Amino acid sequence: MANLANKSTKTVYVCRECGESTPKWQGQCPSCSAWNTLEETAVATNTSSGGFAQKNRAVTSKSGKILKLSDVRMEDVTRWPTGSTEMDRALGGGLVPGAVILIGGDPGIGKSTLTLQVIAAISENRPALYVTGEESSAQVASRAQRLDLPLESIHVLAETGLETILSHVGQAKPQVVVIDSIQTLYSEQFNSAPGSVVQVRECAAELVRYAKANGVSILIVGHVTKEGSIAGPRVLEHLVDTVIYFEGEAGSNIRIIRALKNRFGAANEIGVFSMTENGLRGVANPSVLFLHNSQQQASGNVVFAAIEGSRPLLVQIQALVDRTAGNPRRVCNGVDSQRLAMLLAVMNRHLGSNLGGFDVFVNVVGGLTVDEPAADLPIIAAIWSSLTGKVVPSNTVLFGEVGLGGEVRPVVGGAIRVAEAEKLGFNRVVCGDVGRGARSKAELAIEVVNRVDRAVEFLRGD
Ligand code: TYD
Ligand code: MG
Repeated sequence: MANLANKSTKTVYVCRECGESTPKWQGQCPSCSAWNTLEETAVATNTSSGGFAQKNRAVTSKSGKILKLSDVRMEDVTRWPTGSTEMDRALGGGLVPGAVILIGGDPGIGKSTLTLQVIAAISENRPALYVTGEESSAQVASRAQRLDLPLESIHVLAETGLETILSHVGQAKPQVVVIDSIQTLYSEQFNSAPGSVVQVRECAAELVRYAKANGVSILIVGHVTKEGSIAGPRVLEHLVDTVIYFEGEAGSNIRIIRALKNRFGAANEIGVFSMTENGLRGVANPSVLFLHNSQQQASGNVVFAAIEGSRPLLVQIQALVDRTAGNPRRVCNGVDSQRLAMLLAVMNRHLGSNLGGFDVFVNVVGGLTVDEPAADLPIIAAIWSSLTGKVVPSNTVLFGEVGLGGEVRPVVGGAIRVAEAEKLGFNRVVCGDVGRGARSKAELAIEVVNRVDRAVEFLRGD
């Protein structure tokens, strides 16, 4: 703990976006080039300790020696199940001792619900603690009761002071700790307010140091700012081992968690939940959930066979093309706007679909974000369908990457996508080459198309 007698204060300017600090104020951040993001911050420096971040560096850079790989003792990574198959899947098999996980998402998406459910499940096998800075202990208790969790085995600490939290944790020695949320934490070492970049970064760095030194797994909840980054922003992502991000849209009960970064598992793995009256329930077959209630027989609607992480997922993509009343608008929800611009150019050149006078809206139903190139063909098909009013039959699934020359390319996992379509009762797949892994059968026709114009001719029934 810092000796207060050695403390002095200096002023630095910290970027709200990337956390870079500079000694002088500037209009533009020298690191991330964002404008007007530098904030004056008073930092207490301690000449003897050098601050948390520096201490953290010292702990992680252990002095080593040069070894032959054959002499290195390989350790199996221990994993503690979280009681949720979907959470375990996103984490790569469960919580790893000493690992720190950042759980980010919009307010109200379900971060507190999920982490409380995890703490309840973990508490059955090992000591765990839920630290709340957002709600009182009474609020957490009533939430736990609503979720039908065993109140007598869950330990809660309502506290925002980092030093106090760590002293409690040091005594109670839980093996798993939830911090809800990092924006409410406050360290005495720094004069800035809770939620400021300095507090968020330094508190997180100290939690990481504690986790590594004690083999404790810590889940840090972080709210997302309007700009879409986790507040105290990207700096946190570098500090932690795993970053899990909630996806989903207001008004839908589907909640998706996605591992954006994972030192102990595959990145991009997703877990799918539905938000119920009794909290988050894992969904074993998400395709059924995503296609549920789909108004498939309308123009502009198509089904895309996606692969998220290691599993196939059928989702509906919708497009609406409407005559513009000014500058044409391109609005995307769940797909990349740059990619859409490219696909519109391909449609103009290779399908003769000039969309210059039209607004184009594209939406992935259920709040999922698809960034696979395999979504190209279904996006084009949805836009074409809305533009022409031709319905893509509801028994059809599409996937395929589209190149600038209008060619439809094969994508990874073709056979897995086809198998998922078959499992859900679709009987036609329009796609790029799927190789020999998948063959047409009596109940499932695979239509391999190698150009977008061919795909459209096919959908038109030529
Ligand atoms: P919450 O976990 O508090 O979100 P966050 O911590 O990310 O801000 O979730 C709050 C929302 O979830 C709220 O709109 C109510 C809803 N909810 C349910 O639908 N069922 C439940 O069992 C619970 C606890 C919350
Ligand atoms: Mg919350």
